[in-house]
Amino acid sequence: MSLPTNDGLDHVTETKQGTAGGRTGVLRTKDVNTVIHQNDEPGEGGDSGHLAKRLKARDLMGFGIGIVIGTGIFVLTGLEARSHAGPAITISFVIAGIVAMLAALCYAELAAAVPTAGSSYTYAYTTIGEVFAWIIGWDLILEFALGSATVARGWSGYLQSALDLPKSLFGEDAPINVGAILIVVVLGTVAAVGIRESKWVTNGLVLIKVSITVFVIIAGLFYFKASNLSPFFPASKPDPEAKGGVAQPLWQFVTGASPTAYGVAGVLTAAAVVFFAYSGFEAVANLGEETENPGKDMPRGLIGTLAICTILYILVCLVLTAMVDYRTIDKSAPISEAFKQVGLDWAATLVSVAAVAGLTSVILVDIVCMGRIGFALCRDGLLPAGIGKVHPRYNTPFRITVGTTIVVAVIAAVVPIDALAEMVSIGTLFAFVVVAIAVAVLRRTEPKMERPFKTPQVPLLPIITAVACVGLMANLAVETWLRFLVWLLVGMVIYFGYGRTHSRLSPKNAAAGDLEDEAVV
Ligand code: ALA
Repeated sequence: MSLPTNDGLDHVTETKQGTAGGRTGVLRTKDVNTVIHQNDEPGEGGDSGHLAKRLKARDLMGFGIGIVIGTGIFVLTGLEARSHAGPAITISFVIAGIVAMLAALCYAELAAAVPTAGSSYTYAYTTIGEVFAWIIGWDLILEFALGSATVARGWSGYLQSALDLPKSLFGEDAPINVGAILIVVVLGTVAAVGIRESKWVTNGLVLIKVSITVFVIIAGLFYFKASNLSPFFPASKPDPEAKGGVAQPLWQFVTGASPTAYGVAGVLTAAAVVFFAYSGFEAVANLGEETENPGKDMPRGLIGTLAICTILYILVCLVLTAMVDYRTIDKSAPISEAFKQVGLDWAATLVSVAAVAGLTSVILVDIVCMGRIGFALCRDGLLPAGIGKVHPRYNTPFRITVGTTIVVAVIAAVVPIDALAEMVSIGTLFAFVVVAIAVAVLRRTEPKMERPFKTPQVPLLPIITAVACVGLMANLAVETWLRFLVWLLVGMVIYFGYGRTHSRLSPKNAAAGDLEDEAVV
């Protein structure tokens, strides 16, 4: 398994852009066959401009699990059990897992058929058109940026728990989360100067993370107190923390229902927030070009990753809520603090140290991916080329990485972890809706395209996926929707003010035969 490092950049600077497909205007598409055949020659990496095809389903699962398991299970489980779902947080994880699995079935078809870096951004560009591709790319920047901020806050909480650091500087109670700033700046620097985490270190971190998750499940079983699980579904009651107005879930706001905690509504709200825990699996789809047999390995890699994570998550939820009363779960480092509560201090320290190590690689992947997607948008002419310029020495999209790292550090310093996770959830769910639509559209527009894996029951399954994603989104707070809409609006202004005319596919550039990459030198 390897981290998505910056080596992909050598590749993307050397290949041609996809030529325009049939449509024009903001709905113009890249020709799907051109994009696919960019990757025809089995490359050895390096000089050929292609990445070596050496990953198998097992490697993809290792990579996937490495980025999926993170703050979601280590922090949000406790936070949401305490504030919204009670022991039924397990059900929230099941619901979120089912929706993620549906989305994975849609991703699998596109990832196997269009095995190229860029995943959902490229799928949208080849299917439903440039403006949607831009929205997805813009959305992905948000997802990776806020994802890294969320995990950084989780990292800070566990570091506090491991070393008993001052809560005024580390963890959720700190007014300025210095721990989160620290890790974002360090890893942003690592990403900007292109230090690659060695495969050995990456594998080690994944192993530590999975082992500690299994350890939590087994050790926790010894402190399993069935009475803590009862009532499993705490009765719905007026939410004591409810701020009303825009802080309540969208559906409650629209229907005028009064904000409640627990009960069915609480379980659904928690499901929408903990959806964050599954986000990241789609990054596996970015490795299509490096996969030996994408038709077979991609679906297995995607679905296998999710299946393993779902099982681990459900078991952790059950054990955590059985170990301690959900009302007393800690907000910053719930799992290790639960071990402290049952008197197992050594286990608490072990979990904290392992969580700190494991979360580090998630933050790094998020920051690297953030730079990559920004780079891809610049390369396609949708953002100014200067921003995406590759650093001559470090060979990384230096400016984007440094710029976004600073913004992420500021956000991670002050925005609470659950608000951040909600933003990532809404962004991820939105991207899944677009991917589901793209699967159905592409079946119509490109019926003859080779599909090594077919999503079952098209268009029914993509429709169910899209509806389920929107359903979860409706359980997120109105303020999350507003922030997301503002982000999309800013994106639209940039697209119509800049991207539409500067796009590589715009008539001006296409006519000039300007399809060679010159955006980054
Ligand atoms: N799914 C990842 C996490 O839970 C982003 O941290």
